[in-house]
Amino acid sequence: MAEQTLRAAAAERGFDVGAAVDADALATDPSYRRRLAREFTAVTPENALKMGPLRPSPDTYDFGDADAVVGFARAHDMRVRGHTLVWHNQTPSWFRPWEYTDDEIGEFLRTHVHTVAGRYRSAIDTWDVVNEAVADDGEMRETVWYDALGEEYLDLAFGWADEVAPDADLYYNDYGADAVNGKSDAVYDLLSRLLGRGVPVDGVGLQLHALGDWPDPDSVAENVARFRDLGLDVEITEMDVAFPAGEAPPDALARQADYYAEVVETCLDAGVDSLTVWGVDDARTWLRSFREFPERYTGDPLLFDDAGDPKPAYHAVRDALGRS
Ligand code: XIL
Repeated sequence: MAEQTLRAAAAERGFDVGAAVDADALATDPSYRRRLAREFTAVTPENALKMGPLRPSPDTYDFGDADAVVGFARAHDMRVRGHTLVWHNQTPSWFRPWEYTDDEIGEFLRTHVHTVAGRYRSAIDTWDVVNEAVADDGEMRETVWYDALGEEYLDLAFGWADEVAPDADLYYNDYGADAVNGKSDAVYDLLSRLLGRGVPVDGVGLQLHALGDWPDPDSVAENVARFRDLGLDVEITEMDVAFPAGEAPPDALARQADYYAEVVETCLDAGVDSLTVWGVDDARTWLRSFREFPERYTGDPLLFDDAGDPKPAYHAVRDALGRS
């Protein structure tokens, strides 16, 4: 009998296992497409829905890559996480904030959110409306949006998304806020304020980039519980697991597999029903190309290896989903 796929194990459990999708790989690599559709229940476009890639010039949108990823997901009955409407990174190269008044920045952002979330209102189930609004020291991050509009930019962004995509689940997403720590305390306080002001936020995305430093699963569970007590849903949105470069132990793949399994078990116990990994196979992980990351971390953080074959981590996640 053929082995059960990860997708089947997840579906049986009522759990989503998603992958960040590279639009180029989707367009050019049939084995990538097969693996994605066979093994995952959900997708997140890795870059295609960010403002920069979507907006090559002030007057045009290029929805080609995003449409392709979303269309593929729908054709294969997969859920779509939209990532992301409001972020400080990957803004268009032509966008020069100092040429706008604060009111114009607000108008610019409103048009963007309405256009993008509106276009996919019936196709995108969940949106990361705002990404990474909290700085590493727990203060609000000094972004173009914060600078022009203050903390209210979050209220506005969630409100605009809700206007045009009333059925979508609207998330706040961040990194380094996976376990209980100073940053997650700040995210918790921010979300409490938003909810207190009646902002339509449905959930919080914990990215869980386990890079060198792997968040303690018990602390992740405690953190998830406090967000759920606020009435929010919680998803793991960008997981990958790496060692510091040059420090991978001989049993690195087994240790990585154990950690993935522990996180899945934590999710199942804590009422988290969706975990997305930040890529399909190691060959295309962002850790191999992003800034100084190649010198800092091992480049094999995902469930499939360079050849596209399942790793111990793949089996660990699938088996964890199969255990009762
Ligand atoms: C990363 C992509 O993986 C890279 O391809 C891109 O060059 C930079 O962005 N947190 C996020 C994601 O929310 O959007 C980032 O994705 C990884 C960190």
